[in-house]
Amino acid sequence: MKSGSRAHAGNGALIQRVQRHLRERSRLEQRRNSRRLFHEANRLRRLPLYLFTILDELKAQAQARGINVIDLGMGNPDLPPPRNVVRELVTQVQRSENHRYSRKGGDVERKLNQTIAQWYHRKFTVTLDPTTEVLPLIGSKEGISHLSLAFLNHDDIALVPNPTYPVHFNGVVMAGGVLYSLPIHPETNFLPDLKAIPRSVLKQSKMLFLSYPHNPTTAVADLAFFRQVVAWAKQHRIMVVHDFAYSDFVFDGLRAPSILEIPGAKEVAVEFHTLSKSYSLPGLRLGFAVGNQDVLASLAKTKSYIDFGIFRAVQWAAIEALSGPQEYVREAIALYERRRNVFLAGLKQIGWDLAIPKGTFYVWAKLPLKYSALTSLEFATLLVQEAGVVVAPGSGFGEYGEGCVRFALVEPERRLQQAVKRIAKVLQMGD
Ligand SMILES: Cc1ncc(COP(=O)(O)O)c(C=O)c1O
Repeated sequence: MKSGSRAHAGNGALIQRVQRHLRERSRLEQRRNSRRLFHEANRLRRLPLYLFTILDELKAQAQARGINVIDLGMGNPDLPPPRNVVRELVTQVQRSENHRYSRKGGDVERKLNQTIAQWYHRKFTVTLDPTTEVLPLIGSKEGISHLSLAFLNHDDIALVPNPTYPVHFNGVVMAGGVLYSLPIHPETNFLPDLKAIPRSVLKQSKMLFLSYPHNPTTAVADLAFFRQVVAWAKQHRIMVVHDFAYSDFVFDGLRAPSILEIPGAKEVAVEFHTLSKSYSLPGLRLGFAVGNQDVLASLAKTKSYIDFGIFRAVQWAAIEALSGPQEYVREAIALYERRRNVFLAGLKQIGWDLAIPKGTFYVWAKLPLKYSALTSLEFATLLVQEAGVVVAPGSGFGEYGEGCVRFALVEPERRLQQAVKRIAKVLQMGD
């Protein structure tokens, strides 16, 4: 027996049930696919399984059994968004001119670009040209995936750390580019070893994806690392794509630097931001890219064939978020820090002792010894079925994420404590 052999003998039946469930699910899926009249394009079939689909099913099954599920699976902020932003959105939705297509150079469009440039200067002392070095997006996920489409030919390599936020590699696969994984490990603070990339790979490489504070490992990078990256990228003429979704999410007095703080970084780098996390506005769909103007122009060109821009009322709301009072962000980060402390202390008490995350609102956890022979998907399935706690399996972030699960701290402290109690029961099963 591959899985479960190192797990406690008393859990054998339980583990076999979980494995049977997953096998049956994949058989059903294959049967459904083989019966389809219209087969999906190969590029879709090349994509790895989207694990949240499975977790959503498991969650629904647990809920149907009457379980009050604690969902720590997706990084979907639970805090109410800033009141001033919601107020602005409501006002702007009522103005009929905001329901027309958004046009480049319009009033709100110009103002949003200026606001982003000012926000950048305030936070990172980086100066941006609002017309050429700022590009608002329908969420950063949209922009990151379209960037691969804008730049990758079929023999172009994209260098992507593994594990990482799946859009970094899925965008490459969708665009038909060649994916080259850079394994990242705790021993090197989850930073990729750029010197280990073979020369032949470097020659064909066009893009490097980075993201610090890092989802899912919670690692944080410093300016010294970015300085090396920028020098390396210039030497090899490789574009650096820095996904800075968690720019505010650092704890214990740390600061997360922007890669654009490195002099000359704009020659090779673009940076992506989102309002989804810092302002708890994931439903608004507002992100932006800044940095190298040629790269942004090609991304804008790609988008012009695909979308019609951002709802104008949403753009007004984003201006309010970025230029209004910023206490909301500081309070939200302090709250996530408290959640982190409560959750980690709870897990430690039940014998699951983990490194304290310095950034993001995640906890990246090696599977407990007792269950270390399970795959991360099997362990996540076990937690939903037996504890009613949803977590993200590490394998969903790339094969080097196997052996870990990710908790998103998107439930209040009381629920996190409850989750710990339920997890404790799973850890004690069979004892
Ligand atoms: C690293 C990272 N980048 C981007 C995103 C997506 O953000 P958005 O809502 O702007 O598409 C997420 C969401 O979880 C993320 O974790």
